[in-house]
Amino acid sequence: MTLSLNVAAPDLGALDTPLLVVALGASPALAADLAPVDAATHGGLGRALARRDFRGGRDELLHLSGGERGVQRVLLVGMGAATDRTGALRRAAALAGRQANKLGAGKIAFYGGALDATEVEAVGLGLIAGSWDFKELKSPTPPDDERAMLSEATILAADAAARDAGVRAARAIGEGHSLARRLGMLPGNICTPDYLADTAREIGKRHGMKVTVLGRAEMQKEKMGSFLSVAQGTIQDPKLIVVEHMKGPKGTKPIALVGKGLCFDSGGISIKPAAGMEWMKFDMCGAAGVLGAMEAIGRLELPINVVGLIGSTTNMPSGEAVKPGDVVQASNGKYIEIINTDAEGRLVLADVLVYAKRYDPGAVIDAATLTGAAVIALGHTATGVLGTDDALVQEVLDAGKRSGEPGWPLPLWEDYKELIKSDVADIKNSGGRPAGTITAAMFLREFAEGYPWVHLDVAGTAYTETDLGTVPRGPTGVPVGTFVEFVRARAH
Ligand code: BES
Ligand code: MN
Ligand code: ZN
Repeated sequence: MTLSLNVAAPDLGALDTPLLVVALGASPALAADLAPVDAATHGGLGRALARRDFRGGRDELLHLSGGERGVQRVLLVGMGAATDRTGALRRAAALAGRQANKLGAGKIAFYGGALDATEVEAVGLGLIAGSWDFKELKSPTPPDDERAMLSEATILAADAAARDAGVRAARAIGEGHSLARRLGMLPGNICTPDYLADTAREIGKRHGMKVTVLGRAEMQKEKMGSFLSVAQGTIQDPKLIVVEHMKGPKGTKPIALVGKGLCFDSGGISIKPAAGMEWMKFDMCGAAGVLGAMEAIGRLELPINVVGLIGSTTNMPSGEAVKPGDVVQASNGKYIEIINTDAEGRLVLADVLVYAKRYDPGAVIDAATLTGAAVIALGHTATGVLGTDDALVQEVLDAGKRSGEPGWPLPLWEDYKELIKSDVADIKNSGGRPAGTITAAMFLREFAEGYPWVHLDVAGTAYTETDLGTVPRGPTGVPVGTFVEFVRARAH
Protein backbone atom coordinates (compact mmCIF):
# COMPACT_ATOMS: atom_id res chain seq x y z
CA MET A 1 0.00 0.00 0.00
CA THR A 2 1.50 3.29 -1.05
CA LEU A 3 -1.21 5.63 0.18
CA SER A 4 -0.49 7.41 3.43
CA LEU A 5 -3.80 7.88 5.20
CA ASN A 6 -4.29 10.70 7.71
CA VAL A 7 -7.12 12.33 9.64
CA ALA A 8 -7.78 15.92 10.69
CA ALA A 9 -10.53 18.16 12.03
CA PRO A 10 -12.69 19.66 9.26
CA ASP A 11 -11.45 23.24 9.29
CA LEU A 12 -12.43 23.86 5.67
CA GLY A 13 -11.64 27.58 5.78
CA ALA A 14 -8.00 27.00 6.73
CA LEU A 15 -7.46 24.02 4.44
CA ASP A 16 -4.49 23.95 2.07
CA THR A 17 -4.92 21.13 -0.44
CA PRO A 18 -4.51 20.55 -4.19
CA LEU A 19 -7.87 18.74 -4.18
CA LEU A 20 -10.77 18.73 -1.76
CA VAL A 21 -13.28 15.94 -2.33
CA VAL A 22 -16.78 16.65 -1.05
CA ALA A 23 -19.19 13.70 -0.93
CA LEU A 24 -22.83 14.75 -1.12
CA GLY A 25 -26.16 12.92 -1.04
CA ALA A 26 -29.06 13.38 -3.48
CA SER A 27 -30.32 16.94 -4.20
CA PRO A 28 -27.73 18.67 -2.02
CA ALA A 29 -28.17 22.21 -0.72
CA LEU A 30 -25.42 24.70 0.07
CA ALA A 31 -25.40 23.96 3.80
CA ALA A 32 -23.59 26.26 6.24
CA ASP A 33 -20.61 23.89 6.65
CA LEU A 34 -19.89 24.23 2.92
CA ALA A 35 -19.62 28.04 2.94
CA PRO A 36 -15.77 27.96 2.96
CA VAL A 37 -15.83 25.64 -0.07
CA ASP A 38 -18.19 28.03 -1.84
CA ALA A 39 -15.78 30.87 -1.04
CA ALA A 40 -12.76 28.89 -2.28
CA THR A 41 -14.54 28.27 -5.59
CA HIS A 42 -15.56 31.96 -5.81
CA GLY A 43 -19.21 31.01 -5.57
CA GLY A 44 -18.83 28.15 -8.04
CA LEU A 45 -20.13 25.53 -5.62
CA GLY A 46 -23.29 27.50 -4.83
CA ARG A 47 -23.94 28.13 -8.53
CA ALA A 48 -23.39 24.48 -9.47
CA LEU A 49 -25.89 23.37 -6.84
CA ALA A 50 -28.43 26.13 -7.65
CA ARG A 51 -28.27 25.36 -11.39
CA ARG A 52 -28.48 21.67 -10.61
CA ASP A 53 -25.29 21.03 -12.61
CA PHE A 54 -24.59 18.58 -9.81
CA ARG A 55 -27.51 16.62 -8.35
CA GLY A 56 -25.71 14.24 -6.02
CA GLY A 57 -26.71 11.12 -7.94
CA ARG A 58 -24.76 7.94 -7.27
CA ASP A 59 -21.29 8.12 -8.90
CA GLU A 60 -21.95 11.64 -10.24
CA LEU A 61 -18.76 13.72 -10.46
CA LEU A 62 -18.20 17.44 -10.90
CA HIS A 63 -14.86 19.24 -10.85
CA LEU A 64 -14.71 22.87 -9.70
CA SER A 65 -11.72 25.16 -9.79
CA GLY A 66 -10.51 26.60 -6.50
CA GLY A 67 -7.94 29.24 -5.64
CA GLU A 68 -4.23 29.66 -6.26
CA ARG A 69 -3.65 28.64 -2.65
CA GLY A 70 -5.86 27.06 0.01
CA VAL A 71 -8.41 24.75 -1.60
CA GLN A 72 -7.04 24.58 -5.14
CA ARG A 73 -9.54 22.22 -6.72
CA VAL A 74 -12.84 20.73 -5.61
CA LEU A 75 -14.33 17.41 -6.69
CA LEU A 76 -17.97 16.78 -5.85
CA VAL A 77 -18.90 13.10 -5.65
CA GLY A 78 -22.55 12.01 -5.53
CA MET A 79 -23.75 9.35 -3.13
CA GLY A 80 -27.35 9.18 -4.36
CA ALA A 81 -30.30 8.64 -2.06
CA ALA A 82 -28.49 5.87 -0.22
CA THR A 83 -29.96 4.16 2.82
CA ASP A 84 -26.54 2.65 3.57
CA ARG A 85 -24.48 5.77 4.28
CA THR A 86 -21.36 3.79 5.16
CA GLY A 87 -21.49 1.93 1.85
CA ALA A 88 -22.20 5.14 -0.08
CA LEU A 89 -19.22 6.88 1.55
CA ARG A 90 -16.93 3.92 0.78
CA ARG A 91 -18.01 4.00 -2.84
CA ALA A 92 -17.66 7.79 -3.13
CA ALA A 93 -14.18 7.59 -1.62
CA ALA A 94 -13.18 4.84 -4.06
CA LEU A 95 -14.32 6.95 -7.01
CA ALA A 96 -12.48 9.94 -5.56
CA GLY A 97 -9.30 7.88 -5.18
CA ARG A 98 -9.47 6.84 -8.82
CA GLN A 99 -10.18 10.40 -9.95
CA ALA A 100 -7.25 11.70 -7.91
CA ASN A 101 -4.92 9.29 -9.71
CA LYS A 102 -6.29 10.38 -13.10
CA LEU A 103 -5.87 14.04 -12.19
CA GLY A 104 -2.40 13.61 -10.73
CA ALA A 105 -3.32 15.60 -7.63
CA GLY A 106 -0.94 13.64 -5.41
CA LYS A 107 -2.60 14.76 -2.18
CA ILE A 108 -6.28 15.09 -1.35
CA ALA A 109 -8.60 15.91 1.53
CA PHE A 110 -11.97 14.17 1.86
CA TYR A 111 -15.01 15.76 3.44
CA GLY A 112 -18.29 13.91 3.88
CA GLY A 113 -19.98 15.78 6.75
CA ALA A 114 -20.08 14.26 10.24
CA LEU A 115 -18.45 10.80 10.32
CA ASP A 116 -18.46 8.12 13.00
CA ALA A 117 -15.63 5.57 13.35
CA THR A 118 -17.24 3.09 10.95
CA GLU A 119 -17.68 5.82 8.36
CA VAL A 120 -14.11 7.10 8.71
CA GLU A 121 -12.95 3.51 8.21
CA ALA A 122 -15.17 3.10 5.15
CA VAL A 123 -13.85 6.32 3.61
CA GLY A 124 -10.28 5.22 4.31
CA LEU A 125 -10.86 1.83 2.74
CA GLY A 126 -12.53 3.46 -0.26
CA LEU A 127 -9.60 5.82 -0.78
CA ILE A 128 -7.08 2.99 -0.49
CA ALA A 129 -9.05 0.77 -2.88
CA GLY A 130 -9.74 3.55 -5.38
CA SER A 131 -6.14 4.73 -5.60
CA TRP A 132 -4.71 1.20 -5.70
CA ASP A 133 -2.85 0.28 -8.82
CA PHE A 134 -0.27 -2.17 -10.05
CA LYS A 135 2.82 -0.77 -11.75
CA GLU A 136 5.47 -3.29 -10.63
CA LEU A 137 5.83 -4.92 -14.02
CA LYS A 138 5.92 -1.75 -16.13
CA SER A 139 9.06 0.19 -16.96
CA PRO A 140 9.07 3.61 -15.27
CA THR A 141 7.44 6.39 -17.34
CA PRO A 142 9.54 9.48 -18.16
CA PRO A 143 8.99 12.04 -15.36
CA ASP A 144 7.45 14.58 -17.80
CA ASP A 145 4.58 12.28 -18.75
CA GLU A 146 4.01 11.05 -15.27
CA ARG A 147 0.95 12.03 -13.29
CA ALA A 148 1.48 11.85 -9.56
CA MET A 149 -0.32 8.91 -8.03
CA LEU A 150 -2.34 9.68 -4.94
CA SER A 151 0.19 9.40 -2.13
CA GLU A 152 -1.46 11.19 0.77
CA ALA A 153 -5.11 11.48 1.76
CA THR A 154 -6.56 13.27 4.76
CA ILE A 155 -10.03 12.35 5.99
CA LEU A 156 -11.77 15.29 7.65
CA ALA A 157 -13.90 14.37 10.66
CA ALA A 158 -14.90 16.33 13.74
CA ASP A 159 -15.02 13.46 16.25
CA ALA A 160 -11.44 12.80 17.38
CA ALA A 161 -12.10 9.31 18.79
CA ALA A 162 -13.91 8.27 15.60
CA ARG A 163 -11.06 9.64 13.51
CA ASP A 164 -8.39 7.66 15.32
CA ALA A 165 -10.24 4.35 15.59
CA GLY A 166 -11.45 4.59 11.99
CA VAL A 167 -8.13 5.41 10.41
CA ARG A 168 -6.30 2.70 12.37
CA ALA A 169 -8.73 0.04 11.14
CA ALA A 170 -8.69 1.37 7.58
CA ARG A 171 -4.89 1.22 7.44
CA ALA A 172 -4.86 -2.37 8.74
CA ILE A 173 -7.62 -3.71 6.51
CA GLY A 174 -6.47 -1.63 3.55
CA GLU A 175 -3.07 -3.26 3.78
CA GLY A 176 -4.64 -6.72 3.63
CA HIS A 177 -6.94 -5.67 0.81
CA SER A 178 -4.07 -4.24 -1.26
CA LEU A 179 -1.96 -7.35 -0.63
CA ALA A 180 -4.75 -9.58 -1.95
CA ARG A 181 -5.14 -7.44 -5.07
CA ARG A 182 -1.41 -7.41 -5.71
CA LEU A 183 -1.22 -11.21 -5.42
CA GLY A 184 -4.18 -11.47 -7.77
CA MET A 185 -2.54 -9.27 -10.37
CA LEU A 186 0.81 -11.06 -10.31
CA PRO A 187 1.11 -13.49 -13.25
CA GLY A 188 1.32 -17.24 -12.85
CA ASN A 189 5.04 -17.35 -13.63
CA ILE A 190 5.76 -15.09 -10.65
CA CYS A 191 2.95 -15.88 -8.22
CA THR A 192 3.54 -19.61 -7.89
CA PRO A 193 2.55 -21.90 -4.98
CA ASP A 194 6.07 -21.29 -3.61
CA TYR A 195 5.51 -17.54 -3.84
CA LEU A 196 2.24 -17.81 -1.89
CA ALA A 197 4.03 -19.92 0.73
CA ASP A 198 6.81 -17.31 1.03
CA THR A 199 4.19 -14.56 1.35
CA ALA A 200 2.49 -16.54 4.13
CA ARG A 201 5.86 -16.92 5.91
CA GLU A 202 6.41 -13.14 5.73
CA ILE A 203 2.96 -12.49 7.20
CA GLY A 204 3.71 -15.03 9.91
CA LYS A 205 7.01 -13.38 10.75
CA ARG A 206 5.44 -9.90 10.87
CA HIS A 207 2.63 -10.87 13.21
CA GLY A 208 3.92 -13.80 15.23
CA MET A 209 1.86 -16.43 13.43
CA LYS A 210 2.99 -20.03 13.02
CA VAL A 211 3.25 -21.03 9.35
CA THR A 212 3.31 -24.65 8.18
CA VAL A 213 3.80 -25.64 4.54
CA LEU A 214 3.17 -29.12 3.14
CA GLY A 215 4.63 -29.99 -0.26
CA ARG A 216 3.96 -32.92 -2.58
CA ALA A 217 5.85 -35.41 -0.39
CA GLU A 218 4.04 -34.40 2.81
CA MET A 219 0.68 -34.48 1.06
CA GLN A 220 1.42 -38.00 -0.20
CA LYS A 221 1.94 -39.04 3.43
CA GLU A 222 -1.45 -37.51 4.25
CA LYS A 223 -2.98 -39.53 1.36
CA MET A 224 -4.36 -36.38 -0.28
CA GLY A 225 -5.10 -38.16 -3.56
CA SER A 226 -7.68 -35.59 -4.62
CA PHE A 227 -5.47 -32.48 -4.29
CA LEU A 228 -2.46 -34.36 -5.69
CA SER A 229 -4.39 -35.51 -8.78
CA VAL A 230 -4.66 -31.84 -9.84
CA ALA A 231 -0.97 -31.24 -9.13
CA GLN A 232 0.23 -34.32 -10.99
CA GLY A 233 0.50 -32.48 -14.34
CA THR A 234 2.69 -29.63 -13.11
CA ILE A 235 6.39 -29.56 -12.27
CA GLN A 236 5.80 -26.88 -9.64
CA ASP A 237 5.57 -28.23 -6.13
CA PRO A 238 2.01 -27.91 -4.82
CA LYS A 239 1.62 -26.31 -1.42
CA LEU A 240 -0.82 -26.66 1.43
CA ILE A 241 -0.17 -23.56 3.52
CA VAL A 242 -1.36 -23.09 7.11
CA VAL A 243 -1.12 -19.77 8.99
CA GLU A 244 -2.10 -19.79 12.68
CA HIS A 245 -3.10 -16.60 14.48
CA MET A 246 -3.66 -17.89 18.02
CA LYS A 247 -4.34 -14.72 20.00
CA GLY A 248 -7.66 -15.80 21.48
CA PRO A 249 -8.44 -17.38 24.84
CA LYS A 250 -6.70 -20.76 25.18
CA GLY A 251 -8.89 -23.68 24.25
CA THR A 252 -11.46 -21.72 22.23
CA LYS A 253 -12.14 -23.24 18.83
CA PRO A 254 -10.50 -21.37 15.97
CA ILE A 255 -12.19 -19.97 12.90
CA ALA A 256 -10.72 -21.54 9.77
CA LEU A 257 -10.45 -19.46 6.58
CA VAL A 258 -9.78 -21.63 3.54
CA GLY A 259 -8.74 -20.42 0.08
CA LYS A 260 -8.47 -21.91 -3.40
CA GLY A 261 -5.02 -21.05 -4.70
CA LEU A 262 -4.82 -22.12 -8.34
CA CYS A 263 -1.92 -20.02 -9.58
CA PHE A 264 -3.05 -20.88 -13.09
CA ASP A 265 -5.98 -22.95 -14.28
CA SER A 266 -5.57 -24.10 -17.89
CA GLY A 267 -8.29 -26.69 -17.35
CA GLY A 268 -5.75 -29.52 -17.59
CA ILE A 269 -6.57 -32.27 -20.11
CA SER A 270 -10.13 -30.84 -20.28
CA ILE A 271 -8.37 -27.72 -21.53
CA LYS A 272 -10.07 -24.34 -21.68
CA PRO A 273 -10.44 -22.36 -24.94
CA ALA A 274 -7.45 -20.11 -25.73
CA ALA A 275 -9.42 -16.84 -25.78
CA GLY A 276 -9.29 -15.26 -22.35
CA MET A 277 -7.33 -18.09 -20.76
CA GLU A 278 -4.88 -15.54 -19.33
CA TRP A 279 -7.57 -14.50 -16.85
CA MET A 280 -7.10 -17.80 -15.10
CA LYS A 281 -4.08 -16.39 -13.26
CA PHE A 282 -6.78 -14.98 -10.96
CA ASP A 283 -7.81 -18.47 -9.91
CA MET A 284 -5.89 -17.95 -6.66
CA CYS A 285 -8.04 -15.04 -5.45
CA GLY A 286 -9.59 -17.13 -2.66
CA ALA A 287 -6.07 -17.83 -1.36
CA ALA A 288 -5.14 -14.16 -1.77
CA GLY A 289 -8.25 -13.33 0.26
CA VAL A 290 -7.06 -15.59 3.09
CA LEU A 291 -3.58 -14.05 3.09
CA GLY A 292 -4.99 -10.52 2.91
CA ALA A 293 -7.33 -11.27 5.81
CA MET A 294 -4.50 -12.77 7.90
CA GLU A 295 -2.41 -9.64 7.28
CA ALA A 296 -5.32 -7.42 8.40
CA ILE A 297 -6.13 -9.62 11.42
CA GLY A 298 -2.46 -9.49 12.43
CA ARG A 299 -2.36 -5.72 12.15
CA LEU A 300 -5.61 -5.34 14.08
CA GLU A 301 -4.19 -7.68 16.75
CA LEU A 302 -7.60 -9.31 17.09
CA PRO A 303 -7.86 -11.37 20.30
CA ILE A 304 -9.16 -14.51 18.63
CA ASN A 305 -7.97 -17.82 17.19
CA VAL A 306 -7.93 -17.95 13.39
CA VAL A 307 -6.32 -20.52 11.10
CA GLY A 308 -5.80 -19.70 7.43
CA LEU A 309 -5.49 -22.67 5.08
CA ILE A 310 -4.57 -22.51 1.41
CA GLY A 311 -4.48 -25.20 -1.23
CA SER A 312 -2.18 -24.04 -4.00
CA THR A 313 -1.10 -25.57 -7.30
CA THR A 314 -1.34 -25.09 -11.05
CA ASN A 315 -3.74 -27.03 -13.27
CA MET A 316 -1.79 -28.08 -16.37
CA PRO A 317 -2.09 -30.66 -19.14
CA SER A 318 0.88 -33.00 -19.55
CA GLY A 319 1.65 -36.63 -20.31
CA GLU A 320 1.38 -37.27 -16.60
CA ALA A 321 -1.72 -35.18 -15.96
CA VAL A 322 -4.88 -36.69 -14.50
CA LYS A 323 -7.41 -37.73 -17.17
CA PRO A 324 -11.21 -37.70 -17.41
CA GLY A 325 -12.48 -41.02 -16.09
CA ASP A 326 -9.67 -41.43 -13.55
CA VAL A 327 -10.72 -42.29 -10.01
CA VAL A 328 -8.79 -40.84 -7.07
CA GLN A 329 -9.15 -41.19 -3.31
CA ALA A 330 -9.29 -38.17 -1.00
CA SER A 331 -7.76 -38.10 2.50
CA ASN A 332 -11.12 -38.91 4.11
CA GLY A 333 -11.22 -42.13 2.09
CA LYS A 334 -13.90 -41.07 -0.42
CA TYR A 335 -13.43 -42.12 -4.04
CA ILE A 336 -13.90 -39.44 -6.69
CA GLU A 337 -14.45 -39.98 -10.40
CA ILE A 338 -12.89 -37.15 -12.35
CA ILE A 339 -15.30 -36.29 -15.17
CA ASN A 340 -13.73 -32.97 -16.05
CA THR A 341 -10.17 -32.01 -15.08
CA ASP A 342 -11.26 -28.35 -15.23
CA ALA A 343 -13.38 -28.88 -12.11
CA GLU A 344 -10.08 -28.86 -10.19
CA GLY A 345 -10.77 -26.32 -7.45
CA ARG A 346 -13.14 -28.66 -5.63
CA LEU A 347 -10.56 -31.48 -5.86
CA VAL A 348 -7.93 -29.28 -4.20
CA LEU A 349 -10.32 -27.94 -1.56
CA ALA A 350 -11.63 -31.43 -0.71
CA ASP A 351 -8.35 -32.43 0.96
CA VAL A 352 -7.82 -29.00 2.50
CA LEU A 353 -11.31 -29.13 4.08
CA VAL A 354 -10.53 -32.59 5.48
CA TYR A 355 -7.22 -31.24 6.82
CA ALA A 356 -9.01 -28.30 8.49
CA LYS A 357 -10.83 -30.76 10.77
CA ARG A 358 -7.66 -31.38 12.82
CA TYR A 359 -7.83 -27.81 14.12
CA ASP A 360 -11.29 -28.57 15.57
CA PRO A 361 -12.64 -25.33 14.09
CA GLY A 362 -15.79 -23.64 15.41
CA ALA A 363 -16.54 -22.41 11.90
CA VAL A 364 -14.97 -22.92 8.49
CA ILE A 365 -15.38 -20.44 5.64
CA ASP A 366 -13.83 -21.22 2.29
CA ALA A 367 -13.51 -18.83 -0.63
CA ALA A 368 -12.92 -20.00 -4.17
CA THR A 369 -13.17 -18.79 -7.75
CA LEU A 370 -14.95 -22.07 -8.20
CA THR A 371 -17.50 -21.91 -11.01
CA GLY A 372 -18.28 -19.95 -14.14
CA ALA A 373 -21.90 -20.65 -13.21
CA ALA A 374 -21.58 -18.22 -10.26
CA VAL A 375 -20.75 -15.44 -12.74
CA ILE A 376 -23.79 -16.38 -14.82
CA ALA A 377 -26.10 -16.44 -11.78
CA LEU A 378 -24.92 -13.36 -9.86
CA GLY A 379 -22.61 -11.42 -12.20
CA HIS A 380 -19.87 -9.34 -10.62
CA THR A 381 -22.21 -7.97 -7.96
CA ALA A 382 -22.76 -10.73 -5.44
CA THR A 383 -20.77 -13.67 -4.07
CA GLY A 384 -22.57 -17.04 -4.00
CA VAL A 385 -22.97 -18.17 -0.38
CA LEU A 386 -23.77 -21.79 0.51
CA GLY A 387 -23.34 -23.76 3.71
CA THR A 388 -24.38 -26.43 6.16
CA ASP A 389 -25.38 -24.11 9.00
CA ASP A 390 -28.09 -21.49 8.43
CA ALA A 391 -26.99 -19.26 11.30
CA LEU A 392 -23.41 -19.27 10.03
CA VAL A 393 -24.59 -18.51 6.49
CA GLN A 394 -26.48 -15.50 7.85
CA GLU A 395 -23.46 -14.37 9.87
CA VAL A 396 -21.30 -14.47 6.73
CA LEU A 397 -23.95 -12.66 4.66
CA ASP A 398 -24.08 -9.92 7.34
CA ALA A 399 -20.28 -9.61 7.36
CA GLY A 400 -20.31 -9.30 3.57
CA LYS A 401 -22.94 -6.60 3.69
CA ARG A 402 -21.05 -4.54 6.29
CA SER A 403 -17.87 -4.68 4.25
CA GLY A 404 -19.48 -3.74 0.95
CA GLU A 405 -19.01 -7.25 -0.46
CA PRO A 406 -22.59 -8.49 -0.73
CA GLY A 407 -23.29 -12.19 -0.91
CA TRP A 408 -26.47 -14.01 -1.88
CA PRO A 409 -27.57 -17.45 -0.66
CA LEU A 410 -28.07 -20.52 -2.83
CA PRO A 411 -29.60 -23.79 -1.55
CA LEU A 412 -27.80 -27.02 -0.74
CA TRP A 413 -30.75 -29.37 -1.10
CA GLU A 414 -30.41 -33.17 -1.19
CA ASP A 415 -32.03 -33.25 -4.65
CA TYR A 416 -28.87 -31.74 -6.13
CA LYS A 417 -26.81 -34.67 -4.89
CA GLU A 418 -28.28 -36.77 -7.73
CA LEU A 419 -26.32 -34.66 -10.20
CA ILE A 420 -22.92 -35.68 -8.77
CA LYS A 421 -23.55 -39.41 -8.26
CA SER A 422 -20.97 -41.56 -10.03
CA ASP A 423 -21.37 -44.98 -11.64
CA VAL A 424 -17.96 -46.14 -10.46
CA ALA A 425 -16.98 -44.07 -7.43
CA ASP A 426 -18.61 -42.42 -4.38
CA ILE A 427 -19.01 -39.11 -6.17
CA LYS A 428 -18.02 -37.39 -9.42
CA ASN A 429 -16.38 -33.99 -9.72
CA SER A 430 -18.79 -32.46 -12.22
CA GLY A 431 -22.56 -32.35 -12.36
CA GLY A 432 -22.57 -30.67 -15.77
CA ARG A 433 -24.12 -27.29 -16.50
CA PRO A 434 -27.35 -27.24 -14.43
CA ALA A 435 -26.92 -25.56 -11.01
CA GLY A 436 -23.15 -25.57 -11.46
CA THR A 437 -22.43 -23.44 -8.39
CA ILE A 438 -24.65 -25.60 -6.20
CA THR A 439 -23.29 -28.96 -7.38
CA ALA A 440 -19.74 -27.71 -6.80
CA ALA A 441 -20.69 -26.81 -3.21
CA MET A 442 -22.52 -30.15 -2.79
CA PHE A 443 -19.24 -31.80 -3.74
CA LEU A 444 -17.30 -29.76 -1.15
CA ARG A 445 -19.87 -30.61 1.51
CA GLU A 446 -18.77 -34.26 1.30
CA PHE A 447 -15.41 -33.19 2.71
CA ALA A 448 -16.47 -30.38 5.07
CA GLU A 449 -17.49 -32.78 7.80
CA GLY A 450 -17.43 -32.27 11.56
CA TYR A 451 -17.82 -28.48 11.73
CA PRO A 452 -20.20 -25.69 10.64
CA TRP A 453 -19.17 -24.66 7.15
CA VAL A 454 -19.86 -21.90 4.62
CA HIS A 455 -18.56 -21.73 1.06
CA LEU A 456 -18.11 -18.48 -0.88
CA ASP A 457 -18.05 -18.76 -4.66
CA VAL A 458 -16.16 -15.59 -5.56
CA ALA A 459 -15.67 -16.42 -9.28
CA GLY A 460 -17.63 -13.29 -10.26
CA THR A 461 -16.64 -10.98 -7.43
CA ALA A 462 -12.91 -11.52 -6.77
CA TYR A 463 -11.92 -10.04 -10.10
CA THR A 464 -13.50 -8.24 -12.99
CA GLU A 465 -12.77 -8.45 -16.72
CA THR A 466 -14.47 -5.06 -17.30
CA ASP A 467 -14.05 -1.69 -15.61
CA LEU A 468 -16.73 -1.41 -12.91
CA GLY A 469 -16.29 2.34 -12.37
CA THR A 470 -15.09 2.06 -8.78
CA VAL A 471 -12.82 -0.89 -9.67
CA PRO A 472 -10.67 -1.20 -12.80
CA ARG A 473 -10.18 -4.47 -14.69
CA GLY A 474 -8.45 -7.00 -12.45
CA PRO A 475 -8.68 -8.17 -8.85
CA THR A 476 -11.18 -6.46 -6.54
CA GLY A 477 -9.89 -7.51 -3.11
CA VAL A 478 -12.97 -9.69 -2.41
CA PRO A 479 -13.27 -11.61 -0.04
CA VAL A 480 -10.83 -9.84 2.34
CA GLY A 481 -13.56 -7.55 3.73
CA THR A 482 -16.00 -10.38 4.36
CA PHE A 483 -13.37 -12.49 6.14
CA VAL A 484 -12.14 -9.61 8.29
CA GLU A 485 -15.65 -8.40 9.22
CA PHE A 486 -16.65 -11.94 10.18
CA VAL A 487 -13.60 -12.48 12.38
CA ARG A 488 -13.81 -9.01 13.92
CA ALA A 489 -17.44 -9.47 14.94
CA ARG A 490 -16.57 -12.80 16.57
CA ALA A 491 -13.62 -11.20 18.38
CA HIS A 492 -15.94 -8.80 20.21
N1 BES B 1 -11.61 -21.50 -12.09
C1 BES B 1 -12.72 -22.02 -12.80
C2 BES B 1 -14.00 -21.24 -12.55
C3 BES B 1 -14.09 -19.89 -13.18
C4 BES B 1 -14.58 -19.75 -14.46
C5 BES B 1 -13.79 -18.76 -12.46
C6 BES B 1 -14.70 -18.50 -15.01
C7 BES B 1 -13.92 -17.51 -13.00
C8 BES B 1 -14.38 -17.39 -14.30
C9 BES B 1 -12.99 -23.46 -12.35
O1 BES B 1 -11.87 -24.21 -12.03
C10 BES B 1 -13.66 -24.15 -13.50
O2 BES B 1 -13.03 -24.29 -14.52
N2 BES B 1 -14.90 -24.56 -13.30
C11 BES B 1 -15.65 -25.20 -14.31
C12 BES B 1 -16.37 -26.37 -13.68
C13 BES B 1 -17.03 -27.29 -14.69
C14 BES B 1 -15.98 -27.98 -15.51
C15 BES B 1 -17.87 -28.28 -13.94
C16 BES B 1 -16.65 -24.20 -14.89
O3 BES B 1 -17.16 -23.37 -14.13
O4 BES B 1 -16.84 -24.21 -16.08
MN1 MN C 1 -11.02 -25.11 -13.72
ZN1 ZN D 1 -10.23 -23.14 -11.36
